[in-house]
Amino acid sequence: MTEFAGSQYLIEIVYLIASALFILSLKWMSSPATARHGILAGEIGMVLAIAGTLLNRGIVDYKWIIIGLVLGSGIGIPLGMVQMTAVPQRTALSHAFGALCVTLVGTAEFYLRSPNVPKFMMSVLSMEVILGGLTFTGSLMAAGKLQEILPQRPITYKGQNLVNFLLFVVAIGSAVYLVLNPGAKVFFPVIVGVSLIFGVLLVIPIGGADMPTVISLLNSYAGLSAAAMGFVLNSKLLIIAGALDGSSGLILSIIMSKAMNRSFTNVLFGAFGQVQASVAAGQEAKPVRSATAEEAAAILSAANKVVIVPGYGMAVAQAQHKVRELYDALTKKGVEVRFAIHPVAGRMPGHMNVLLAEADIPYDRLIEMDEINGDFPQTDVALVIGANDVTNPAARTDQSSPIFGMPILDVDKAHTVMVIKRSMNPGFAGIDNPLYYLENTLMLFGDAKQFVGGIVRELAGGH
Ligand code: TAP
Repeated sequence: MTEFAGSQYLIEIVYLIASALFILSLKWMSSPATARHGILAGEIGMVLAIAGTLLNRGIVDYKWIIIGLVLGSGIGIPLGMVQMTAVPQRTALSHAFGALCVTLVGTAEFYLRSPNVPKFMMSVLSMEVILGGLTFTGSLMAAGKLQEILPQRPITYKGQNLVNFLLFVVAIGSAVYLVLNPGAKVFFPVIVGVSLIFGVLLVIPIGGADMPTVISLLNSYAGLSAAAMGFVLNSKLLIIAGALDGSSGLILSIIMSKAMNRSFTNVLFGAFGQVQASVAAGQEAKPVRSATAEEAAAILSAANKVVIVPGYGMAVAQAQHKVRELYDALTKKGVEVRFAIHPVAGRMPGHMNVLLAEADIPYDRLIEMDEINGDFPQTDVALVIGANDVTNPAARTDQSSPIFGMPILDVDKAHTVMVIKRSMNPGFAGIDNPLYYLENTLMLFGDAKQFVGGIVRELAGGH
């Protein structure tokens, strides 16, 4: 075997191991018990993929690669250290960078090969830059909305869907023309430019509350564009990794839409999240009953069965460790404590699982929505900590509610409901929650970490 064939063989083996690790990574990440292994497998796979690529005999000079690695790591390390609540926008930024890279590689490949681009190659190249371009700008818009640099509300205008459709037709039409006439170079910048504009216009009419679903869909587009790049560069690793990314992103978006009882088209074109006039105008104040940490501790101590419902507010307050102390204190008193997990509680899939796992709350205490909903009528206390929309009974009862039909945690059926939040402000969907005005509901006004800490102190001070 020549030295060249030998190193090529080695690269293929390294890529094969990396691909297997990516597949195992996804498999392991689907359960909290194996998720850490999944992350490690993915990281090792990525290191192997980079190492294998660096072995490539086609590389004549490592200078720019090293500069790129240093720059990339310099940006990546601080990006990875953001607060957990900022992970969705951080993820969107990663997609934006990946998609920009794919678009630039596609553009370079086109000008290197043009005008002798075979039909198949031109088709995948077009797909690569269309998906890459729209994912780049779309992801920037999504990150901007979540970071509140851009308005969260849907930005809409008359004929919007028609304009978007026409742009899409222009991009696809130019690509088809270029496939048939590879010499018509002028169409290439048209494809790239229109895709970039399309990404912006596709995301701005979508409300901030739907951004996690949009990001997951953009993740899927980024994966597909990387797979297309794999065909262009003849890299099996990119095809496999891109296909895994593309399909998992799509599946995740479908799971999220289902959990909100929304169709995919409604998420993308429904302009969900317009502020309701009644909420914006400030509703007439309805009476609610509130309680102190001391009273809450007394009620919890007297309970046999408690279900804790965590939501976005627990994440913001970083209250998970205090919640763990509460779990310990109540369990010590013989109270049965479980956690009800709504699939879209928080701001990203698995958000609550990750936070509660961080506080070492046993996995078997975390119960999925479908499994725990039947138990609320036999629950003494449902303690809602910074959750709002996912407990809103209007989703079950009020046909005019924008979230009507969304499956919720039926906390209102518990004997007593206690809700920790700072005010009567609405949650992410921007709508009022009738749960707070029910006879069996007590509002515990305050920051989640401080209030739970207060209850824990009261429990310790008691007997
Ligand atoms: P939300 O409905 O957003 O409610 C969170 C509540 O937490 C707010 O009402 C807020 O009330 C309270 N809060 C904020 N900071 C707090 C603090 N420091 N201490 C105590 N409370 C605090 O959250 P949720 O019930 O978890 O629902 C998630 C929402 O995100 C849903 O609308 C869902 O559709 C949407 N969404 C989620 C996902 C995923 S994958 N998770 C994907 C797409 C959409 P105060 O301001 O009064 O404190």
